[in-house]
Amino acid sequence: EVVVYENADLLAAAAAARLVTRIVDVQAARGSASVVLTGGGTGIGVLRELRESHARDAIDWSRLDVYWGDERFVPADSDERNEKGAREALLDHVPLAPERVHAMAPSDGEFGDDVDAAAAAYAKVLSGAAEAGADVPAFDILLLGLGGEGHTASVFPDSPAVHETGRSVVAVRECPKPPPTRVSLTLPAIRRAREVWLMTAGEAKADAVAQALAGAPETQIPVSGARGYRRTLWLLDRAAAGKLTKV
Ligand code: 6PG
Repeated sequence: EVVVYENADLLAAAAAARLVTRIVDVQAARGSASVVLTGGGTGIGVLRELRESHARDAIDWSRLDVYWGDERFVPADSDERNEKGAREALLDHVPLAPERVHAMAPSDGEFGDDVDAAAAAYAKVLSGAAEAGADVPAFDILLLGLGGEGHTASVFPDSPAVHETGRSVVAVRECPKPPPTRVSLTLPAIRRAREVWLMTAGEAKADAVAQALAGAPETQIPVSGARGYRRTLWLLDRAAAGKLTKV
């Protein structure tokens, strides 16, 4: 499913409105909901829009579980942390239950500079919250951005992470997008989500969007493999949709 908005601001506002509606619907149907956040300008921008939305308090923040699809392995108070960006944009402005915010460890946390230990610990958090027989929860909504060369979360073309078949959470080193060390869900873990929403804007992403929607192999265009098992929703601005053939 692909929805195109006139510009990046409208995209962010619409994505935030959709997020409120979806979370409210899930909470009405099942009591609680889970959302997986992403980093990057688009992902954080949507959270900022959500904070400013007057509809935001239709969400029961005490019954929302928050996870991350990837995180930079930097000190907790670094401006490069996706968690810090999310807290400043939204999370510190709403009454979330702190125990339901599941952050990936920073590089100055309990695991020190051991990024493999941080990745293993997050895998344990996910398996602890998963349904019987699964090692990752069936997240209700998993938000993702994408890069111009097709990366999503911290899964880059032809990288160890995109070839990972066993684990759900991996340490990423020498990441082409700084900072270089990260923790990321793998594509099989992403595909456990009920819904995956890909949100991106700008002409620089148009090639990757077109290749992914044309079914490019995920090892070359990782975002091509970012699919929800119930729904995959692309929220684009006109520039990022610029290379899609008019269907
Ligand atoms: C990160 C994100 C990354 C981001 C894309 C898009 O931690 O950097 O996980 O995957 O979503 O690079 O970033 P922009 O929205 O800023 O283009």
